[in-house]
Amino acid sequence: MTDNCWLNNNVVNSVSQLQFYIKNITKEDRVSINIRSEIVTYFKANLTEDETHTDVILGIDAASQDGFEILNNSGQYIITAANNQNLLYGLYYFCLHYHLGDLQNHELKQPDQAIRMIDQWDNFDGSIERGYAGESIFYDHNEFLGNYERIEQYARLLASVGINYIAINNVNVHKRETFFISDEFLPKIKQIVDVFAKFGIKVLLSINFASPIRLGNLKTADPLDTEVKQWWIDRAKTIYRVIPDFGGFLVKADSEGEPGPFAYGRNHAEGANMLAAALKPFNGLVIWRAFVYNSQQDWRDKSVDRARAAFDNFIGLDGQFMDNVVLQIKFGPIDFQTREPVQPLFGALKHTNQIIEFQITQEYTGHQIDLNYLLPQWHRVLHFDTFEDNKSALLKDIPSRNSIISANSGFAAVSNIGRDENWTGNQLAQSNLYGFGRIAWNNDLTPDQILAEWTQLTFSDSEVCGKVSQILATSNETYENYTAPLGVGFMVTPHYHYGPSINGYEYDRWGTYHYADRNGLGVDRTLATGTGYTRQYSNHNFELYENLATCPDELLLFFHHVSYSHVLHNGETVIQHIYNTHFQGYEAVVQYLNMWVTLQGKVPESVYQNVLLRLQKQVDNAKEWCDQVNTFFYRMSGVDDVQQRKIYR
Ligand code: GCU
Repeated sequence: MTDNCWLNNNVVNSVSQLQFYIKNITKEDRVSINIRSEIVTYFKANLTEDETHTDVILGIDAASQDGFEILNNSGQYIITAANNQNLLYGLYYFCLHYHLGDLQNHELKQPDQAIRMIDQWDNFDGSIERGYAGESIFYDHNEFLGNYERIEQYARLLASVGINYIAINNVNVHKRETFFISDEFLPKIKQIVDVFAKFGIKVLLSINFASPIRLGNLKTADPLDTEVKQWWIDRAKTIYRVIPDFGGFLVKADSEGEPGPFAYGRNHAEGANMLAAALKPFNGLVIWRAFVYNSQQDWRDKSVDRARAAFDNFIGLDGQFMDNVVLQIKFGPIDFQTREPVQPLFGALKHTNQIIEFQITQEYTGHQIDLNYLLPQWHRVLHFDTFEDNKSALLKDIPSRNSIISANSGFAAVSNIGRDENWTGNQLAQSNLYGFGRIAWNNDLTPDQILAEWTQLTFSDSEVCGKVSQILATSNETYENYTAPLGVGFMVTPHYHYGPSINGYEYDRWGTYHYADRNGLGVDRTLATGTGYTRQYSNHNFELYENLATCPDELLLFFHHVSYSHVLHNGETVIQHIYNTHFQGYEAVVQYLNMWVTLQGKVPESVYQNVLLRLQKQVDNAKEWCDQVNTFFYRMSGVDDVQQRKIYR
């Protein structure tokens, strides 16, 4: 493991030494932990002679709910919580903020979201779907890797930022992973569950909806079939006998080739409830994905709009799901693009538990080669106003407010870690994993606040912290600038999803088109003349997006097909905006590289080289995007850049 990373920071290591005490305290006990003996390695450098005599007292206090309380009682810190798990969060928080020097005399912290979940897209063969940091830490060549030390480090890392659920296999469940819920594999799964349990993290498995056929040799997986129902009930009993604290199932059904209830003419509430009934006696959850769309679209048929799919499939089912079913809904209507609007199901669903799904792994956002600090995107999404029922209603408040049981709602995100020594491939991509945990706990933390925390935990030198913050703070905007313009999305190399391929998906079956011609570009999703997607929003947002005059510039091409000469609110024409942003984006990356070079010798050489190599690739990638996009639209439109910069003809 490299030295200089947030995980290896002593904040986390020292807390793990305290695990012993946390595991063993009961309600009656108060455990006094002497800083000198227990977390001295970490605090030594920061404490004055006097302070080294200070104790931290941990206590269980039944009065508090989720979360914890920290009191500074004349230099003696008292951390209390309702249970061990929350006490652990309190301790992590204490260590973090003691280090940052901003611990208040009284802190009362409660998580904004009940479920704070990580989705691993790891396959049994060791590969990770959309993984950019090496192979899986769980599996290798269809075996369990058995490196529990590494898994424990990961669990600790996640718990330190408040994560409490994890699904440990890919949502695309292939032949072999289907057997994870079989008698043969459950003891192995239990070993992983036990490691996460030490940190209060519940483990779920992604399951194959067709398991009754593939595993149980039944003829059908019809959710209303009596034998099928019984098969799942029996399976659940077996699972919970082996793993009493099993979290539940994550299900991708009827999506991109995965089996599901549609095959039997059943809807998704019928599919999910059948599983939920089997898990209910054990308090297990069914986390059911709303990412259901026709992935066999004909590009010639403009009436089918992938953006509409989740809403069309699920809005009619609101109120029909059991209370241990949670819909996991991608934040936008398409697929984790750099810029897309917020999924209109949020706000419209009133009686369904919901999880907002994000993607930490940089599938469409730079593959952890290009720098892309994603917190500005997530923060923007969470503070989107759905204006549901004509009242202000921020997205962040919706999962808990509208759920049947708010304890069964929250956020999830696809992990960005792998077997690489530094966990995330690009050292600086750790900031996104850290940031997801922090914003899931406290939805109002700003991207800058989180960045300041992470840089200070990771680098000691103030010049390094300053420059890294400066680079990362603008990196999301920069990436957007040199890739697909004004919310139109995709234009990436098919399947691989890194680098430009402007027409790569234009005649494909995936429903992701830009419709550029010599007059203009963009997808008409209006009610008046397009696919009608805009109507899925509440009145306020429907009008906002439907009207060209009010549609925000950054989403213009998501909602409208406009001419190249269309004038944006900022006064630029669409074509000039494309040229400007692409040149700016490329130049910003060159600047990042120049700044990074000044840090040689100020960060460990391995970290320096790790980021340097990737920044050099990012410069090439940004140049390719800039030139291809500018050339493509110059050739289409025939309009010159007013600034006469170099555009290849
Ligand atoms: C995207 C991604 C797939 C993934 C899918 C999902 O389409 O490219 O790799 O399986 O999302 O979220 O299920």
